[in-house]
Amino acid sequence: MLTRKKILVGVTGSIAAYKTVLLIRLLIKNDAEVKVIMTPSAIDFVTPLTLSTISKNEVLTDLFTEKSWSNHVMLGRWADVFLIAPLSCNTLAKMANGFCDNLLLAVYLSATCKVIVAPAMDEDMWLHATTKSNLQLIENSGDLVIPVETGELASGLTGEGRMAEPAVIMQYLQDFFFDGKSLKGINALVTAGPTYEQIDPVRFIGNYSSGKMGVTIAEELQERGAKVTLVLGPSDLLPNTGIFTVHVKSADEMYNACLDCISQVQIIVMAAAVADFTPVDVSGIKIKKEGKDLNIALIKTKDILKKAGEIKKDDQILVGFALETNNEKENAIKKLQEKNADLIVLNSLNDVGAGFGTTTNKITIFDKQGNEYLFNTKDKKQVARDIVNTIIKYKNA
Ligand code: CTP
Repeated sequence: MLTRKKILVGVTGSIAAYKTVLLIRLLIKNDAEVKVIMTPSAIDFVTPLTLSTISKNEVLTDLFTEKSWSNHVMLGRWADVFLIAPLSCNTLAKMANGFCDNLLLAVYLSATCKVIVAPAMDEDMWLHATTKSNLQLIENSGDLVIPVETGELASGLTGEGRMAEPAVIMQYLQDFFFDGKSLKGINALVTAGPTYEQIDPVRFIGNYSSGKMGVTIAEELQERGAKVTLVLGPSDLLPNTGIFTVHVKSADEMYNACLDCISQVQIIVMAAAVADFTPVDVSGIKIKKEGKDLNIALIKTKDILKKAGEIKKDDQILVGFALETNNEKENAIKKLQEKNADLIVLNSLNDVGAGFGTTTNKITIFDKQGNEYLFNTKDKKQVARDIVNTIIKYKNA
């Protein structure tokens, strides 16, 4: 239920506007108070009369009429959430660039409440680089994006870009209002980034991890109210202030930093790409290319995830990652069991948009009970949300 929650629904010109009729009905059934504003082109898809009848409120379309001026500032202040559904490509572009040529945009620019958008567009438009960067811009200013769905599109083609179904949007709002700070009082430990295993003063063994996925998970946990310690390998990223970040270089340093605080946390997410091997001896001076070949003896590093699984307490949830190239599911489940984790997040290097150095990721999560959760390719922020939602679901089960 959304009892007494004030939802300002913005409707833009997209065929998906027909679903907004059902969405508003659902919001009203769940006891929300709803007001609606429409862009001029939205009126071509659904009438203000329909939406005002269903929302039980006048529908606003213009900044001013002959008789009155719509107070856009007060609308944004009245609402607990400004939900723009559907969000067309055109309105998205205007929002990202500060345009203000209709009432909906004026409300957007002056809104003090959270803005949540449910985009709807054809797949080619959705995948266009401009759309992606516009979405990034509004996300950077704090707006939340409800992922699009894959299916039949207005063009007759099948693909990504359908507006989320009303029930999905309803659930999103429910989570937003009531799960927003559901990790308050919880301590979390996250590892992120690569590790560098020193060979001599100028060389190391490393990997391509940027740390982005782990840092984004740490930030998401913090946004949900958790107190987060982030153990971060060499990375250019600057985690949000408020996250206690311990900078480390090697797998051994990461192991020690984790063990220092592991007994005080309830959620552990091991997203770091820890080196599996490290040189037996580190040369104190630069190794010269005197001989013909160079053989470096390597020994296994300590497995932090495995150790965390061995000492896991009843109140702890342990999440590991598996980056696989073949037999993905089988390998991920094997890791889940062998390391006594509760959840394992699989990324396959065979999936486009997954892996190191990308801004997106495609994951599947397996839990100890044998459940499997499949997700589409998404921006890493959204992936972090999916991971944290799955952790919360597991915790509350
Ligand atoms: N991990 C760890 N400590 C290590 C190595 C890995 O904590 N020394 C964690 C990673 O953070 C990740 C998971 O273990 O959560 C990855 O599992 P792992 O079996 O190490 O994967 P790979 O290194 O890919 O191993 P393999 O080569 O056997 O697939």
